[in-house]
Amino acid sequence: MDPRPIGVFDSGVGGLTVCKAMKDIMPGEHIIYFGDTGRFPYGTRSIETIIRYSREITEYLKSRDVKMIVIACNTSSAAALDVLRRENDIPVLGVIDAGARAACKKAEMAPHGDLIGVIATRATVKSESYVKAVHSISPRIKVLQRHATIFVSLTEEGWIDEEVTRLAAKKYIQDIFDEGVRVLVLGCTHFPLLKKAIKDVYPDIELVDSGIEVAWEAQRILAEKSLENSGGDGGIELYTSDITDSMERLKELFFGNNGTKISKLIIDSRI
Ligand code: DGL
Repeated sequence: MDPRPIGVFDSGVGGLTVCKAMKDIMPGEHIIYFGDTGRFPYGTRSIETIIRYSREITEYLKSRDVKMIVIACNTSSAAALDVLRRENDIPVLGVIDAGARAACKKAEMAPHGDLIGVIATRATVKSESYVKAVHSISPRIKVLQRHATIFVSLTEEGWIDEEVTRLAAKKYIQDIFDEGVRVLVLGCTHFPLLKKAIKDVYPDIELVDSGIEVAWEAQRILAEKSLENSGGDGGIELYTSDITDSMERLKELFFGNNGTKISKLIIDSRI
């Protein structure tokens, strides 16, 4: 039993999908969430910058005495997970390993079991993190990646079930579908909200939600290390580095409307 909170962070509000999954699986845990909306998006930035941002957020979360850090952002997980693990003595989890593990399991059962598709931001694709994670589990599986940058903007705009979204899905996915991909990793926090639109176009593709997978992994690790807080208050504190007009709409889109408030917090060490 450990009443300390769990720290979760993302480049923006997309990581609230991970908080939602964690709350469903571990209702007693207290979560402190930081979304770096003031510096969003991360997916078009350099690895050095993403590592710097991720370090700053980690320092803040550690100052709040968290017992575990979950990097809900695929782009940060790709760039900074290894660094943050080396530099910190609490468990640091990223979405990529969890997503890759689930994808490998599904691929073993799929008709084209030697193939996994990944859609993600440019930075995540460039890092090849999903490719490396899949190959560390099953070297024979081929990974076909596509960056799907427009999906991020479509989601932010709330266009999650529109014709334009289905057209974008075709543009990004058709060629890897033709090559045989039937298991597709949603390698960006925003993409789980597009599940329906993708499934409308590709009903035969199995989608892997890395956010849900990391929530299960967090629960497993807390249990293994006797760090759970099953009887805790289940509270959530939401902080972002900027509060914009669309924030409430996005919060509801990602997290539902449960009255949780967002507070502004700037943690840029250079200010
Ligand atoms: N959280 C980011 C990710 O999962 C969303 C996109 C971005 O910041 O560019 O990759």
